[in-house]
Formats: sequence, structure tokens, C-alpha cells
Amino acid sequence: MSIEELLAARLRPAFDQVAGGTADPAVRRSQHADYQADGALALARGLGRAPREVAAEVVARADLAGLADLEVVGPGFINITVHTSAVHSLLLKLYADSRHGVPTVAAPQTVLVDYSGPNVAKEMHVGHLRSTVIGDAIVRLLEFQGHHVTRANHLGDWGTPFGMLIEHLVDVGEQEAAHELSVGDLTGFYQAARRKFDGDPDFKRRAQLRVVALQSGDETTRRLWRLLVDESEKYFLSVYSTLDVTLSAADFQGESTYNDELADVVDELSALGLLRESDGALCAFPDGFTGRDGAPMPVIVRKEDGGYNYSATDLAALRRRCRAYERAVYVVGTPQKQHFAMVFAVGVAAGWVQPGQVEHIAFGSILGPDGKMLKTRAGDSVKLSALLDEAVSRAAALAPTPDVAHSVGIGAVKYADLSSDRVKDYVFAWDRALSLTGDSGAYLQYAYARIQSLLAKGGAVEPAFSLDVPSERALALQLLGFPSAVTAAATALQPHRLAGYLHGLATAYSAFYEECPVLRAPTAEIRAGRLGLADLTGRVLTLGLSLLGIRTPTPL
Ligand code: ARG
Repeated sequence: MSIEELLAARLRPAFDQVAGGTADPAVRRSQHADYQADGALALARGLGRAPREVAAEVVARADLAGLADLEVVGPGFINITVHTSAVHSLLLKLYADSRHGVPTVAAPQTVLVDYSGPNVAKEMHVGHLRSTVIGDAIVRLLEFQGHHVTRANHLGDWGTPFGMLIEHLVDVGEQEAAHELSVGDLTGFYQAARRKFDGDPDFKRRAQLRVVALQSGDETTRRLWRLLVDESEKYFLSVYSTLDVTLSAADFQGESTYNDELADVVDELSALGLLRESDGALCAFPDGFTGRDGAPMPVIVRKEDGGYNYSATDLAALRRRCRAYERAVYVVGTPQKQHFAMVFAVGVAAGWVQPGQVEHIAFGSILGPDGKMLKTRAGDSVKLSALLDEAVSRAAALAPTPDVAHSVGIGAVKYADLSSDRVKDYVFAWDRALSLTGDSGAYLQYAYARIQSLLAKGGAVEPAFSLDVPSERALALQLLGFPSAVTAAATALQPHRLAGYLHGLATAYSAFYEECPVLRAPTAEIRAGRLGLADLTGRVLTLGLSLLGIRTPTPL
């Protein structure tokens, strides 16, 4: 139980008595005391009584003996000061528990997380970075809570671009293309195919026929397609490993895997009366979606030429996922907000989706220091691999070994992404991402590394905590907030809540370390108590960062 929950549990009987029913004590961390209970205000409103009077009555009835002191302040807040002995015993519990107090959920669910989703033969761009990094943090948080998580990498491995890619492969010759393909990054290959497609009508016609051959299962075409997909998958896996992301080869569930279900999806939707023909295409018109002119907007389920598109594939994916999982979350950028809203609405109309079962976890864009979409100096969109290479080489200046440079560089990029509220755009700047003092991954890693070198000098750590001066106490209370920070981040699928907590922890540690000599503490007892605080801080930092997918290397 987190400290907030413990305090709330002890306050609740008094609140309930005063309410003559149930009332929420609403306990939260406070600037003015250790914690504050704000529940008396809402309760007073409900009872039509004066808030201060209600708060005073709650305090009079409450029994927090051995835990905390209460005081009514302001318009009816209850300030809570936790007894030092209680802080100490709560720290002991947190220390002894390898989960550092984070509870598992009472009812674990089967959850599918759709994230990363790059496109074959196209370089991953920074938008895929966000999906990959945020999605992986969400997976780690949900798994830590005890949910049964399936990672789904909705690879763009199907559709019209493959006509030109395969036809280009035939032109170049398999033997000749082998080397280029084995590099994995098929961007150049894609661009060459694209140029021919745009400039050569004969090639374009062949490419279109190839799409038909691919979709009808022509053997040679399928083999060539597989070749391209395999090489791309290998490349993406190498990026995931650079990024310390948990996606593996088994997690690819590309668009192609739904191919055999698409016709059946159309049949089912049309049997339900949900499809209408519009300009030769079969469309669903979910309620509540209208264009600027007020006309209903379509989800195209089958194109005029009989082919299927991104939406059709997502409908098939949705149907399959809703059958197999209690919950599915889609970590995809905000530009696809309407796409998912409409696809989900069709799924609801078809009876596939239960309330709350699916959710689009949207995120904003990464902006450059100029406040515009992140671009290279030449004005091109930034390739993910280039960004990661630069991160590692810049971090080399801060790090004693290549291994540490990797952890710091990648950690910097991931932390910059995870520490901002995902729905917002955020500005990426190297100096900030790699700063050793600000709100950065490097700052947190540095705090961890300093703790480790302190512990190495300090000798054996005992489970004891010194709580006499304010900065010790502030650090202790911050440590006790770890379980609720993890739970909040996991419940809201907002990794930045955990990142913000960890930054607060590192800051509280720095303040403590500045004020309190550890190795030269005035007494052996205080020395041990401060080493204990440092050790627990290091443990919480490393567990917390690992839930964000960020390593804590030593030495730094
Ligand atoms: N491949 C898509 C893109 O690059 C992302 C896939 C997201 N997932 C989904 N189920 N549509 O935009």
C-alpha cells in the first residue's frame, strides 16, 4: 500500500462518520505539510456545512495514532505530518521489497499494445521513434503491474508500394540486389523504384500488375516480397536493439497477416448493413463523422478496383484483437486520430468492441529548436538511425567507455521523449537532452552513478535511514511516493508521470547530498542512515528508469 493509500485508509472511517455515508479523503503530497487531505471541502459542499467545521470534526474523530498528526488549515484542508518513526518503518518496507512498494493489479488483463509500426523499405523517421519509445515504456509499465501484454508491431508490409518494389527487384536482379538489400536500410532502393514508377509508364503498369499478382498469391511474387520484408525486419530489429526496446522478431504482426480476413470483414460488415457503395468503393459511414460540408465521411473498406487499404487492414486487426484481448491500445501519432476514431466507431457498430476495450494513445510531434518539425540542416526529415548515431557520438564526450556512451546517448533521446506529456509536441535540443544538470536522462543517470561511487566508498549498507534534517526527510517522502508514481503512469498510460517523479527524486537527492555529509557524517549512526537513503534512492532510480526502458550505467 502506498503512503497516500495508507493515510487515506486511516482517515476514511472519520470521513465516513461525518458524511453519514462514504467520502473520499483525497490525500495528496503537499508543499505546506507532508501530505494534505482536501476531502473535507467536497464533503462540506455536499452536506451544506462550513468546510472548516467539517474538517475539524473529521480531525476530532480520526485515529492516526502511531502514524501522523493532523491540523486544519486554510478554508478546510487537513495538513498531515507523518511521524518520523512511521516514515522510517515505511522506508524499511520499501527497501526490503524488490518492487519497492509497487503493487500488482488485482485483476490482470490481457492487453495488446500496438506500437512502432514502421513501413517496409522506408527508413523509420522520428515519428516512429516516439511510437517505439512510448509504446515500449507502456509495455514495461503494464507488465510490471502484472498484466499479460502482447506486443504488436503493425508493420507496413502490404499494399501498392510493393508492386514497384518487387518490379524494381526483378529489374535489378536478385543476385545484384543482394548486397544492397542485406544492408537492411532499403531507403535508396525505395527511392529508385519510386523514380521509375513516376517516370516510366511501362514500369508503372508492370508495378500495378505486380500488386495484383501479390494479392492473388502468385508464388514468385510472394517469394520476392518475403525477401524484401525479411531484410527490412532485420534492419528494424537492429534499430530496436540499439534503442534498448523489447520488440522482437516474434512481435511483427504486419498488415499482410490480415490479408486472408479482409474479404470476410467486408462480408460481415455488409451483412450487418453497415456498408454502402460510394463512387464504386465500399464504405462505412460511422455516426458522428462529417466533413466540412456536413456530408458524412466514409471509411473506405474496399477500393473501387477491389483492393484493400490501410483502413480495411485496421478493421480486420481490430476484429481479431477484440476477440483475443481484453484491451488493445494503439500507440500512434496524433495525425491518425481521426482514422482510429472512425475505425473504432465502425467496430463498435459491428459489435466487436466493448466499451473501454480499445484506445488510441496519441502523441505529438518532435520539433527542432526553431519550433518547427525536426529537420536536418539540409531540410530533410531526420532519419532515426542518424539521430541515434549522433546521440551516441555526442554522449561519448561524457562517458568513459563506448558502452556507457551508448546508454547515455540512447537514454538522452528516450528520456527527452518520455519526460514530456506525450499528447504535446516537444522541442528536442541536444544540449538539453545531454545536460548533466537539467531535466534529462543524463542527469538521472549521473545521480545514479554518483550514488554508486558513494556506496563503493561507504562499505556495507544497513537498512537504516537518517531522518533528522529537512532534506533527509524530503528525500524520504519522495522515495515513499514511488509506488503511486508508477501506478499513476501505468494507469493513465503516461510515462511522463514517472519521468517527472524520478527527476524529483534526483533533485531531492542532490539537495540532500549537498546539505548532508555522508561519509563524514557526525556519527556512525547518521552515516549509516544516510548511506541507507542513498542506497534506496539508487535502487528506486534504477527500477524506475528501467520501467522507462533507460539504463543506469556505472561508472559514468
Ligand atoms: N505503419 C503506420 C505508419 O507508419 C503505423 C501503424 C500503426 N498501427 C495501426 N494499427 N495502424 O503510419
